[in-house]
Amino acid sequence: MKRKLFITVAGLIFFILSNSCYAQTDYHEPHRPQIHFSPREHWMNDPNGMVYYNGIYNLFFQYYPKGNVWGPMHWGHAISKDLIHWAEQPIALYPDSLGYIFSGSAVVDVNNTSGLGQNGKPPLVAVFTQHDPEGEKAGTTTFQNQSIAYSNDAGKTWVKYKNNPVLKNPGIKDFRDPKVSWYENEKKWIMTLATYDRITFFSSKDLRNWTKESEFGKDKGAHGGVWECPDLVPIIYQDKEVWVLLVSINPGSPHGGSATQYFIGQFDGHAFTSSQTETKWIDDGADDYAGVTWSNTGKRKIFFGWMSNWQYGTKVPTEKWRSAMTIPRELSLEKINGNYFLRSLPITELSAISVKQTNLTGEIQKDISYNGPIKLQLDLTLLDDFTIELKNIKNERCMIGYE
Ligand code: FRU
Repeated sequence: MKRKLFITVAGLIFFILSNSCYAQTDYHEPHRPQIHFSPREHWMNDPNGMVYYNGIYNLFFQYYPKGNVWGPMHWGHAISKDLIHWAEQPIALYPDSLGYIFSGSAVVDVNNTSGLGQNGKPPLVAVFTQHDPEGEKAGTTTFQNQSIAYSNDAGKTWVKYKNNPVLKNPGIKDFRDPKVSWYENEKKWIMTLATYDRITFFSSKDLRNWTKESEFGKDKGAHGGVWECPDLVPIIYQDKEVWVLLVSINPGSPHGGSATQYFIGQFDGHAFTSSQTETKWIDDGADDYAGVTWSNTGKRKIFFGWMSNWQYGTKVPTEKWRSAMTIPRELSLEKINGNYFLRSLPITELSAISVKQTNLTGEIQKDISYNGPIKLQLDLTLLDDFTIELKNIKNERCMIGYE
């Protein structure tokens, strides 16, 4: 039996707090999430180039600084020490003659394989898609290519590599969103790239010259839309390395619009293989897209997604800014009846946030009048399945369910 728990919060529901410790005064507009990262103003979509370096988490993101809907893409930038409190930085990458700056990743080039470092220090190298709007308009199939940029001041400023693009499009219209990681066994870089209806893997010794290794997925998983923003993540399960391939798809989500599926398998430095037959989704909900993991966090795999959906992302009722990221989650694996599932839990650091707390043990219906961030601690051990309904005085509702 599905049981309902009603929680009425007077005024608007604010989902907790970030940004505020940086004394920016304008983070309290209606609908402004108070824990999830959101840009101070203007349009944001995918998280990009997430890299941890020198104690700082660098978050870059798809950003259009001149409007509230998608436009010529830049990489916005924010930094944090704890993945919760963020300080927005100047824009990191601007469009140029090769096109807009689409999604991609960033790595710490520890051994300076690229030769782009200075004074014996490793550079940060960003690998991203350049989308040429003119080529697209002209009907060509080669308007998305991969470029790199490097930073020798820990991500504050970036220089585009002079011989961009580093990976040219062979004639595949959707050829984008490179996620690069170091493959230690063969001391090489692996690029996981979304190529229309499949993933293509490339390798490189220096981040500048790339060779095709293999393809995966043409006949696997969901194909109701184009494949985007992949990530190949090794996760340790009981001392065994298991590889998880994340693939976002838009449209084609079971709930409409955008969603992220995943495949469990093996990667041998050249090809990813999976015996999975069913389609698995990282979230069974609508507001988590284009999510990938942070680079340079060792065995800990931290994930961030865009907390929106291309179905309605441009229409959500905020005026000054649009979109937020999911809260950071830690990825791990769970094995149930011999079948692996990806588990994503809010990072433990979130428990350090102090907000009003309410315990609802044993109560089935509760009215709480509170206007501000609130943390609900629910003891649901007596229920098999349930729905939690959060609603405000305008009767706007948010349903959270468990089966
Ligand atoms: C995913 C996506 C990416 C692309 C970016 C453009 O949401 O479509 O494939 O690089 O957004 O902003």
